[in-house]
Amino acid sequence: EKSKETALSRLFFTYQGIPYPVTMCTSETFQALDTFEARSDDIVLASYPKCGSNWILHIISELIFAVSKKKYECPEFPVLECGDSEKYQRMKQFPSPRILTTHLHYDKLPGSILEHRVKILVIFRNPKDTAVSFFHFHNDVPDIPSYASWDEFFRQFMKGQVSWGSYFDFAINWNQHLDDENVKFILYEDLKENLTAGIKQIAEFFGFSVTGEQIQTISAQSTFQAMREKSQETHGAVGPFLFRKGEVGDWKNLFSETQNQEMDEKFKELLTGTSLGAKMKY
Ligand code: A3P
Repeated sequence: EKSKETALSRLFFTYQGIPYPVTMCTSETFQALDTFEARSDDIVLASYPKCGSNWILHIISELIFAVSKKKYECPEFPVLECGDSEKYQRMKQFPSPRILTTHLHYDKLPGSILEHRVKILVIFRNPKDTAVSFFHFHNDVPDIPSYASWDEFFRQFMKGQVSWGSYFDFAINWNQHLDDENVKFILYEDLKENLTAGIKQIAEFFGFSVTGEQIQTISAQSTFQAMREKSQETHGAVGPFLFRKGEVGDWKNLFSETQNQEMDEKFKELLTGTSLGAKMKY
């Protein structure tokens, strides 16, 4: 097991203190990211991995379609910090609005996003389901490294030695900006409980004027079942792994009692008393 951990550590490179997967990010791209030119009508979706970014990306694409009748096409891999270092040059040609998803801390966003006061939607999901989803993603998708066991993944997750680093560091960093004027916060669990209400809030925040009927249509197209059924068509071979289970509370199938307590203690230590801690369905 030890050698597997050592092997895994080679799959990351650290940039400004955070581990990123070598298969998806490079330091050249991070350097180029500093030159990224934001537009005030860009749409930023920020989340820790596995908190539902593809779900919200789909909802926003449907909202764009509803108001413009143009199908939203993203010619690049949607995660801003992933890909080759030329992508920011190419992105200058993309029509507005551009949807930029990111797993970066607020502090690590390119300055231009902050200068243009671009609207940012931050998505959170409780850390237990997030960890379980992240584990399955590594172990289900054939082309990315797998972990020897759930226990091993849990250990690395708690240490922040996973792709994009610590869930808790991400949460602490974003917690300071949830009340910023250009930032809106949404919870996976709330969207799951009331999809229509969530879509309405997202539409209002980004200024899409849509009718109740349009919201109902988008809602029907954005359920887990609807998205999973189309996942191969929309996301290729990785689709069924991206739309795996889509439930709240799946952590109960993997967490031991000790792991549950360890996570509860960490949450209490780092997030209880913060505005994020109070809002999260934990
Ligand atoms: P699970 O692995 O728990 O199923 P991301 O898009 O950020 O990678 O997040 C992926 C997680 O969001 C997966 O969680 C996936 O099933 C879930 N998800 C995607 N679309 C969803 C939807 N329409 N409804 C509920 N959950 C969804």
